[in-house]
Amino acid sequence: MKYDIKITKVKESRLPQLDFDNIPFGKVFSDHMFVANYENGAWVNPRIEPFAAFQIHPASMVLHYGQSVFEGMKASKSLHGKPMLLRPDMHAKRLNASGARMCIPEIPEDLFLEAVHTLVDLDKDWIPPKEGSALYIRPYVYATDEFIGVKPSESYTFCIFTGPVGPYYAKPVRLLAEETFVRAVKGGTGEAKAAGNYAASLLPARLAQSKGFDQVMWLDGNEFKYVQEVGTMNIFFVIDGKVVTPATDGAILKGITRYCVMDLLRDKGYTVEERPVTIHEVMEAHAAGTLQEVFGTGTAAVVSVVEAISYQGKVIEIAAAGPESISTLAKAEIDGLRSGRIEDAHNWVVPVDSPALINM
Ligand SMILES: Cc1ncc(COP(=O)(O)O)c(C=O)c1O
Repeated sequence: MKYDIKITKVKESRLPQLDFDNIPFGKVFSDHMFVANYENGAWVNPRIEPFAAFQIHPASMVLHYGQSVFEGMKASKSLHGKPMLLRPDMHAKRLNASGARMCIPEIPEDLFLEAVHTLVDLDKDWIPPKEGSALYIRPYVYATDEFIGVKPSESYTFCIFTGPVGPYYAKPVRLLAEETFVRAVKGGTGEAKAAGNYAASLLPARLAQSKGFDQVMWLDGNEFKYVQEVGTMNIFFVIDGKVVTPATDGAILKGITRYCVMDLLRDKGYTVEERPVTIHEVMEAHAAGTLQEVFGTGTAAVVSVVEAISYQGKVIEIAAAGPESISTLAKAEIDGLRSGRIEDAHNWVVPVDSPALINM
């Protein structure tokens, strides 16, 4: 281990209070959290402490100017009870890519990985055992200078906490293609997992819900023509046997599940195209009877089937995904990798006590 992470354990675990068969998403937090601070140009004092509230200064810059980025990842248990992570290096890289856009100093990738491994190892008993369940991991960084004025902060807190989540039985979602609000434009912050992006999405999402839709399907901000993504998911279309997903263009989050699903489906022999997709192409494919499936991918839901899309007042209904569907296959592949049931041909799954970690 390269970093001297000081560990202070809880006196008494809260784990006995957890009902593994009934875990509300996002509301249960494990015993410990990792914290490090950025001061005088360096990340210092990496430590694991009992999970607890922070004290925050009223002038803390993050509260005013939103300089904050985050990640969302999961640890699962293999069939043999071993904690495992899926492509943790990609999450480390994406956090830094998001941070670079927000003038947040880089976190050494090995510090990120050592922190995640050590924290998950300590709280591994919080990982729910059922396939599809997981320990959700939330790394994030925020600006802590006590200062009024717009400039990059000089101090930051990097925190990672975790919480168990049950199997996500996502019900099919109904999407509203958004023609008034935009999530991101090229040159904006859409490719960063920046806190403010999510704040900006709340009003359009609420308006879509008031019209009977679950989520917004974002279109590009220049022409309202190209499909971008959905809520906290990337989007895939199956058109005439081909799997198509919008190419990342600087305004779309580079979803890690998206990359996994593209590769896994290619392994299975499907043609997967990453290219601009217009909403008109989607509507026309539906009219022609060639729009076979629509689904979203993301760490939380893994794969979520889309059952309807509304555009310019016209709602198209997409046939239900059967057991033979591509979305069902994609979900089974990711869940199977996470549980070790499916062979990890790409070496994406990293056991938490990885020897690579010891050598870091
Ligand atoms: C805006 C947005 N798009 C897509 C995704 C899916 O990304 P991933 O598969 O890495 O979870 C997420 C979730 O992180 C997201 O917040």
